[in-house]
Amino acid sequence: MSGGLRLFIAAEPPEAVRDELALWARRAIGRNAAARRIDAGSLHLTLCFLGEQPAAAVGEIAHLLGAVVELFFRVEDLQLGAPAWLPPRRPRVLAVEVGDPGGTLRALHTALASELAASLAWVPGRERFRPHITIARMRPGSERARELPPTPPLCFTPQALTLFRSELAPSGALYTPLASIPPG
Ligand code: 2AM
Repeated sequence: MSGGLRLFIAAEPPEAVRDELALWARRAIGRNAAARRIDAGSLHLTLCFLGEQPAAAVGEIAHLLGAVVELFFRVEDLQLGAPAWLPPRRPRVLAVEVGDPGGTLRALHTALASELAASLAWVPGRERFRPHITIARMRPGSERARELPPTPPLCFTPQALTLFRSELAPSGALYTPLASIPPG
């Protein structure tokens, strides 16, 4: 779609959690030239990737954040879990899984996906929702590190539910918040 914006909706972990994850990433992959670490400030947990959408739809999508706000306010006790290479067969990213023992994050994801599908010409991807925070992107064909240090054992409540614009650049994607809801 020409003239469209590449959009996604994500939960933003608190700054302290992002900083710990960035430190972990440095220990896990260091200066590995095959990996590009994501800055602490850009770390996020994707709930729905919308792909290219018309710029005119941004207002409507921002409005949908409000439709799920009560479910967002219930999200708590998220837990950083094990590292994961994703997708498993031909990994393109190194991520840290996020545990959602109360199922509140999944409930938010399901409601958001259903609101988006009802309001936009958007069809959710077929892959199951697997909550994670990507911490590095790997160059194609690069080797995975064999051993990774244990991830920080942190529990958190997201600091915001945010609609982001993603712009791809050779130096890495640039994420710009377009609309955001702080926790209740
Ligand atoms: P990730 O969390 O696994 O990295 C912006 O590109 C965000 O949308 C990324 O965080 C990315 O996932 C997520 N995303 C989900 N599906 C995507 C797709 N098909 N293409 C690009 N990004 C996608």
